[in-house]
Amino acid sequence: MIGLFVGSALALAAVTGLLLNISERKSEERQYPLILNKLSDDQVDPAVWGVSFPAQYGRYRLMAEPGTATNYGGGHPYSKLMRNPALRRLWGGYPFSLDFNEDRSHYFAAIDQFETKRNDKDWINAHGLPGFKGQPGACMNCHSGWAPSLIRELGWETFNHTPYNDLKGMLIKQHGAGMAGHALGSTCADCHHPSDMSLRVTRPAYINAMVARGYKGDPKAGLLATHEEMRSHVCQQCHVEYYFKGEQKVLTFPWSQWPKNEPLRIEMIEAYYDREAARPDGFKADWTHGETGAPMLKMQHPETELYSSSVHARTGVSCADCHMPYRREGAVKVTDHFIASPLLNINASCQTCHHIAEEKLRARVDLIQQRTATQLKEAEGAILALMDDIVAASKELDKERVKGTSIPDDVYKAKVDKVLAAARQAHRRASMRWDFISSENSTGFHSPQEAARVLGAATQLARVGQLSLVNDLATVGIHIRPTAGYGLVPAAGNPIEPRHAPVGDPPGQALLDLDLKVEAMITPLGVAGETTAK
Ligand code: HEC
Ligand code: HEC
Ligand code: HEC
Ligand code: HEC
Ligand code: HEC
Repeated sequence: MIGLFVGSALALAAVTGLLLNISERKSEERQYPLILNKLSDDQVDPAVWGVSFPAQYGRYRLMAEPGTATNYGGGHPYSKLMRNPALRRLWGGYPFSLDFNEDRSHYFAAIDQFETKRNDKDWINAHGLPGFKGQPGACMNCHSGWAPSLIRELGWETFNHTPYNDLKGMLIKQHGAGMAGHALGSTCADCHHPSDMSLRVTRPAYINAMVARGYKGDPKAGLLATHEEMRSHVCQQCHVEYYFKGEQKVLTFPWSQWPKNEPLRIEMIEAYYDREAARPDGFKADWTHGETGAPMLKMQHPETELYSSSVHARTGVSCADCHMPYRREGAVKVTDHFIASPLLNINASCQTCHHIAEEKLRARVDLIQQRTATQLKEAEGAILALMDDIVAASKELDKERVKGTSIPDDVYKAKVDKVLAAARQAHRRASMRWDFISSENSTGFHSPQEAARVLGAATQLARVGQLSLVNDLATVGIHIRPTAGYGLVPAAGNPIEPRHAPVGDPPGQALLDLDLKVEAMITPLGVAGETTAK
């Protein structure tokens, strides 16, 4: 597989030209026009900041327009659960299994957090998860332009553990309801200092995690970093895997095992969580799987982590290079503040460095993404098969219990836990790897070879889990045959009603057709006529 990716890498005739281009960009001093009005952290309405910067503000405002879907990304917030119903089972027992959509622009960051059913306690309770207690304020860290001001007011820990809806109420009271008030998403002040518009990092969780890795903080910019590094840091404060630590629900990135200046490997995140789980009061799991009882870890938007292992990252290309390319406004070159999928603007996003025809560049991305999608499906199939086997094993163990009804509850549970322990551990480990690539939003593009490696490991861990389950069951006299191919996939389900369209729309037919094409590429595993397709 890796060989395939290397083989498909671009024939980059002018690599030296590319590198020159990058260093030119590095030395290019940005032109910051005069700030006409006084800006401050107490007034972060982008309209106020935009007075002096109409070119940047105009493009920012365009993010409010309805977005377009790409094959695997784009700005149409359709239901990902309807596109890939396997997710409903893979995340079984967790709110994500009930509502999860494609992301859209920064303009909607707060609105979509109000809109998601994952943030609606009563709805989640009524849809199969009666124990769900609602979300903490920590959710707001990356979704509200007012988060830094609330953190200053309440203190870091209180901000995180205050119930989400209480913070929302505070915002309405202080700044009113509306786009400059409680519904303000990511805004200028997130990335720029009000005194001189220089780039800065504003989110404490990122600074804490980077300092734990050996980086130095900075009173003005948040982190001590070069200008080029800042062009990624500003994005990395939100586009990362996270969890809420302890009773205080403090937003934390599992990064302390990630050495400075090295690409991340998922094994470093796993080692972090393993250490936590081994501490008596440490973090054990995001949730317990509804079908298998495994202690699960949910990975969320690890763009920063996956990107760190890419060729692009290693040659110094920043997030902003592709997602905020330069554009010409009259005589001046400005940074595009319409932050979106680069596939909607390959010309500006890629062709400044790659002097290759647009269709060819698009074909490269398609190839990487479709291969990743195939491997994702293979990993999903293997994890579902492991889940089917654990469910079958539990049923067999239940039968044993009915036979010997005198077994007390705790004795029975201890026996089940022991027999299923290795399989559940395999479920956790395979799932976090699959999720790492599945929930990363570039469908492999940010680091194709690493994505292939991680998905290969996910599939292997799931299959090994099936085998160890067969062996462990044999020790108590139960014999099952492991599921050879793809585990069971649930029905696609229906859109959630009522809903504010386009959130949760059914996915377009073109996307479903593409998925069929991708599924047809899955390696058949069946033996002796057994079918493996789902
Ligand atoms: C070399 C170019 C490049 C760089 C550098 C890059 N990306 Fe991307 N990014 C892409 C492409 C291509 C996609 C796939 C878009 C799609 O599928 O529509 C993507 C997708 C994404 C998406 C999902 C977009 C969507 O439409 O849903 C996010 C979020 C993202 N990148 C964030 C980042 C962050 C954060 C960084 C830096 C850590 C980064 N990217 C660096 C090219 C790049
Ligand atoms: C560390 C930053 C961070 C935190 C904390 C965070 N988010 Fe997000 N959220 C993001 C980013 C980045 C995206 C866009 C990428 C994606 O969708 O994967 C996103 C996307 C979303 C979306 C749109 C897509 C979807 O999932 O349906 C919703 C809704 C959402 N988050 C809800 C929440 C909720 C609820 C919480 C608290 C449990 C939360 N977020 C906490 C960064 C964060
Ligand atoms: C997600 C981070 C982010 C947000 C939000 C953001 N910017 Fe920027 N902005 C950047 C980056 C990155 C650059 C490029 C800076 C550089 O390389 O020096 C930039 C550059 C600029 C510049 C310098 C001139 C130029 O075009 O390169 C101005 C002025 C500016 N932004 C204004 C704004 C305004 C006004 C808003 C809100 C409407 C805003 N920015 C929101 C990241 C952001
Ligand atoms: C304050 C947190 C925050 C920062 C800083 C941030 N993002 Fe995001 N980003 C989000 C959230 C949250 C979403 C999802 C919003 C939604 O779906 O409603 C998102 C969505 C996106 C998307 C998807 C857009 C689409 O049309 O689908 C891209 C691409 C993206 N971000 C790239 C970047 C880049 C590049 C940077 C840095 C220049 C950056 N982000 C900085 C929180 C952030
Ligand atoms: C700032 C310059 C820059 C930008 C912008 C850029 N690239 Fe690259 N790209 C590079 C460099 C440098 C390399 C590595 C060349 C080498 O060493 O072989 C590279 C390598 C690649 C590779 C082969 C390695 C891999 O990861 O598979 C692909 C494919 C690629 N780029 C596609 C794109 C696409 C698509 C975009 C736009 C979304 C893009 N690039 C934007 C500079 C850039």
